[in-house]
Amino acid sequence: MSSAGRVLVTEGELQARVSQLGARITSDYHGRPLLLVGVLKGAFVFMSDLARAIDLPVDLDFMSVSSFGESTRSSGIVRIVMDLETDIRDRHVLLVEDIVDSDLKMTYLLELLRSRGPASMEVCALLARADSDQSQIGYTGFVIGDEFVIGYGLDAAERHRDLRSIHVFEPRTRSH
Ligand code: PRP
Repeated sequence: MSSAGRVLVTEGELQARVSQLGARITSDYHGRPLLLVGVLKGAFVFMSDLARAIDLPVDLDFMSVSSFGESTRSSGIVRIVMDLETDIRDRHVLLVEDIVDSDLKMTYLLELLRSRGPASMEVCALLARADSDQSQIGYTGFVIGDEFVIGYGLDAAERHRDLRSIHVFEPRTRSH
């Protein structure tokens, strides 16, 4: 058995931070039509809230890539599971991630998307590990430690993505 453990970031804190990020992005992209690229599946909740916090017309698209490695920390090869529909040449692209952990996925995606000739390329990550390379992230929601986090799109073996807050995952070894 397992359960959602203590709350790390409350629903209210998430809403407030997403509003701030949306306001910054609105100001930074004024006059530049924006394409949000969400990285599935984890980013789907954040992407939905962020898109509505940006007071500009935005286009949306999604990509899905998978990495092979340990279950709680990604590592190894990344491959495209679902590509964009949109031609991003000359577009202002903002890559939306739920969490940057080892930054393997983000680095792979940035290299791939940059090769397609966007007008600009930035990253907005809701969460970034304190020990990850954050130099490639233009917009960060929260910097966190090495907790195994779930909720607000993030999963443990595909569960708990629907939680409204971000929790620390607590595996249970015994049932009660
Ligand atoms: C997680 C998370 C990020 C990525 C971060 O995705 O959603 O996309 O890993 O890890 P990294 O910085 O070490 O590359 P996951 O592969 O678990 O897929 P999911 O989004 O479908 O849960």
